[in-house]
Amino acid sequence: MIDRSTIERILDAAQIVDVVQEFVQLKKRGVNFLGLCPFHNEKTPSFTVSPSKEIFKCFGCGKVGNSVNFVMEHEHLTYPEALKYLARRYHIEVVEKELSQEELEKQNERESLLIVSSYAARQFSENLFQTDEGISVGLAYFKERGFRQDTLKKFEVGYSFERRDAFSKKALEDGYKKDFLVKTGLSIQHEDRIFDRFANRVMFPIHSLSGQVLGFGGRVLKTDPKSAKYLNSPESEIYHKSRILYGAYQARKAVTQEDRCYLVEGYTDVLSMHEANVENVVASSGTSLTVEQIRLIKRFTQNITILYDGDAAGIKASLRGIDLVLEEGMNVKIVLIPDNEDPDSYSKKLSNEEFLRFLKDNETDFIRFKTQLLLSEANNDPVKKADLIRDVVKSIAVIPEAITRTVYIKECSTVLEVAEPILYNEVNKLRHQKNFQDRNKYPGPEDLPVLPQIIVKPIQREPVSYYSEKEVIRLLLKFGSVEFERTLNKEDGKEEVLTVADYVVREITSDDLLFDDRVCSKIFADFKFHVEHGLIAGDKQFVKHEDPEISALSADLLADSHELSKIWKEKQTYVETEEMVLKEMVGDSVLKFKSDKIMILRKDIMAQLEEAVKANETEKVLMLQKRYSNLSVVLGLISRKLGNRILL
Ligand code: CTP
Ligand code: MN
Repeated sequence: MIDRSTIERILDAAQIVDVVQEFVQLKKRGVNFLGLCPFHNEKTPSFTVSPSKEIFKCFGCGKVGNSVNFVMEHEHLTYPEALKYLARRYHIEVVEKELSQEELEKQNERESLLIVSSYAARQFSENLFQTDEGISVGLAYFKERGFRQDTLKKFEVGYSFERRDAFSKKALEDGYKKDFLVKTGLSIQHEDRIFDRFANRVMFPIHSLSGQVLGFGGRVLKTDPKSAKYLNSPESEIYHKSRILYGAYQARKAVTQEDRCYLVEGYTDVLSMHEANVENVVASSGTSLTVEQIRLIKRFTQNITILYDGDAAGIKASLRGIDLVLEEGMNVKIVLIPDNEDPDSYSKKLSNEEFLRFLKDNETDFIRFKTQLLLSEANNDPVKKADLIRDVVKSIAVIPEAITRTVYIKECSTVLEVAEPILYNEVNKLRHQKNFQDRNKYPGPEDLPVLPQIIVKPIQREPVSYYSEKEVIRLLLKFGSVEFERTLNKEDGKEEVLTVADYVVREITSDDLLFDDRVCSKIFADFKFHVEHGLIAGDKQFVKHEDPEISALSADLLADSHELSKIWKEKQTYVETEEMVLKEMVGDSVLKFKSDKIMILRKDIMAQLEEAVKANETEKVLMLQKRYSNLSVVLGLISRKLGNRILL
């Protein structure tokens, strides 16, 4: 772990313009800098960098953040990795926090396993290209299958000798510990002897996103029913099959560029597609997809195309796994590879252009694909058709985006010849049952179709405080240390300055109100701490906060799009800057926050009241009624105070 003072030094050194400029050409525009957004495709620049706020923001795709967020996003790094990257750039020595004995041992073990794995990959590669046995057996095998040398090198492919203990012996001689050789699974201990797991196989190293070797897949050279075609590394401290996608390291750049990721089954499919110039490809290595793997892809793109080879039964079995991908909000397309081919063999049959054309021409949207596949099986059997509708509806229901669901419902209604409202109904029922809704989202109109013949009840908006919480935090960040009002201390006659932070913290804590949003709550707690200790909190300290959630939200709230709060933009057209109306605006926002909280409370009380009435608890009913009406009075007062200015 990196200690706090080092993090601060890194953040101080990493000036946003400097950091961004390494990757994006920037031009000065007034106080800001402008360039083409590296995160989405655009022809006219909408990517701005503000040196004073130390943030970037793209008005095209909405990405926003500080210098660390930029590096994380652009280089696909985790927070500590991004910090280390910046530390290297600005020649700051990274002092890692002292780890506990246990943490230290774990880290040492991980590191040792990584070192052994990378040594093994080097050995196997040397075997393949520089030894007689490797060249005549391993390299000959790859040549016969038509793989190019540069591809083999790019994927660090290798060869493990036929002798049962060749690798283990050499590794021990070279000083690698038996313990780690066994833990990586490269060696197998049998009584007091040690053998190679992968003897007499061609070796495919499996890399992490940053290119470290985590494990191996080894393929036999001849088809032999007695031994498994592929052997893989066992699970270890560094190799977790469910979190790894083969080829992700080599595909990273292309996936971002193409904004699409192809998913295939096998190691050789990945290699061959690279040879066909399709480099945005990863393999699930023959297992069904996991959520972790999907999220790995999602870091780079929302679009995934799955290449299927195999029979209808196999495809049907794997359809279920795809709902997971839909649930992550990704767009899924399917390409069927012709019978008895896989992407490896088929890409070799066609020219590069033909293969790419094939992929483009044959991609089918997943829901459509599934519908048609099941429809062809149902053969007009009404029972089967009902099952099929339920099945397709299930897939649609997991899609998080309402608009996307609507599009699919329309389409399926045509293909399946079922009226749209029926499908809507089914989808909504499922979503309701499973509580698919993202609880953090502002509840919007659900999927009720707007059809003239159906009377749609007005949608009762759930009371939420999400927006007003954010507005309060935004004002704290932007104006926390600005003067709110001056008062005369009656005792010593001295003038006292009350800052915006003082005022807001006092108002909210005196009513014991809490923030529901986790990040807002963290930021507020920090302000409260400062106010209570007579300290001043500045916006920079939040934009540069070591907690990435805090820095991201702060940067977003401070970006220009929020320049003038909505209330004032709509109602007070003559106002030019927030400073001009600061006092009223802060006051109103606190009131709005309070009224939102009261509405939530009131709803809660109403629910309790209904329960109490049902249970005939007279005393409780009276008490709750009283509280309810008290809250309503307060609410009335607040809305009068706010006049008709407020409506967020
Ligand atoms: N696989 C495995 N163990 C096996 C068989 C397969 O781990 N016994 C995994 C491998 O990752 C393999 C993938 O499943 O790449 C797909 O299997 P398959 O289609 O049988 O192999 P191919 O990738 O086509 O391999 P090759 O072309 O070398 O025959
Ligand atoms: Mn194959």
